[in-house]
Amino acid sequence: MPATPSGAKGAVITGWGTALPNKILTNIDLESMMDTDHVWIRDRTGISQRHVGGTTAGLSAESGRAALQMAGVDPADVDALILATTTPDRTVPASSSTVQNLLGLSSCGAFDLNAACSGWVYALVNAHGLIAMGAQTVLVIGTDTLDRITDYTDRNTGILFGNGSGAAVVQACDGPGQMLGWDLDSLGEAESALFAEVGGFLQMEGKEVFRRAVRLMVDSATNAMASAGVAADDIALAVPHQANIRIISASLDRLGIPMERASIVLDRTGNTSSASVPLALAEALDQDRVTDGDLILFVGFGAGMSAASAVVRWSPHATTNSGDTT
Ligand code: UT7
Repeated sequence: MPATPSGAKGAVITGWGTALPNKILTNIDLESMMDTDHVWIRDRTGISQRHVGGTTAGLSAESGRAALQMAGVDPADVDALILATTTPDRTVPASSSTVQNLLGLSSCGAFDLNAACSGWVYALVNAHGLIAMGAQTVLVIGTDTLDRITDYTDRNTGILFGNGSGAAVVQACDGPGQMLGWDLDSLGEAESALFAEVGGFLQMEGKEVFRRAVRLMVDSATNAMASAGVAADDIALAVPHQANIRIISASLDRLGIPMERASIVLDRTGNTSSASVPLALAEALDQDRVTDGDLILFVGFGAGMSAASAVVRWSPHATTNSGDTT
């Protein structure tokens, strides 16, 4: 993948927000729904509970509204809304149309982006592309309501997935902006490892996904760091897709990034697909784990099999093109 061109218009993240449905499904709850047990799930995946319920548009509006409020952005000033989701509420229209209406984004482009669990990182890179072409403000949301395509009697898949949403406001700025490098990848030959037919449940070859996931994450993160001209030692915070703690640990170990530098939310959220990276980012930011100048590595993988990574130098106080200091 190409490096971010040095002359491209830069962008910064100026606000973020999250949404999780109220209803929680614990591992203990799952014991009465399928042949499994809490200790096995926790030890083999790192997950203790997940949230279920809600709609993709409703959760997106909640996280998006919070992100716009934090950024101090008037909904009328949003130029584009990208909603990364694998679980739109309807086949037609895109759920981003519903979200645009709910948020009162009066005049903007809006589209859904499906790159499975890599979706939010794909959307973040695309938002930077739109800004390089002249957009000022892009709202990037990642939301999935996987309970609608998960068979909670199947212990192969039913232990892993949950619902959630995370959003970020990305704005044009003076200077080069935050994103130093990126990588988008897809391995179509592996699509049969994880899929759901229209109207059907997720089907998965768990071991095959696990094996390929580690390789995809390592390769994609390595490409993004190379295009950014940085090394693993430079990364202050890793924000990986939250699928399985053993996948994250194996990938970071191969990359040479200590686990203490990772943001982990999957113990409380399960795998929320497009929402998992922004949920983990928001928690790290809310806990003040990131300071000015820190390098953040986003790395996602998912069905497809897709992968996406980006390296960002955190600089939330950059001056946006509107003249505001965020
Ligand atoms: O966004 C991408 C989404 N997908 C993924 O990331 C999935 C990646 N794969 C995985 O996370 C793991 O492969 C799983 C969590 C799905 C399964 O873990 P595993 O370590 O690969 O388990 P396994 O299939 O090798 O099974 C080990 C043992 C077996 O018993 P025996 O044959 O050793 O007696 C299974 O029958 O664990 C048993 N087992 C379970 N026991 C309780 C498998 N699933 C369960 C379960 N509860 N849910």
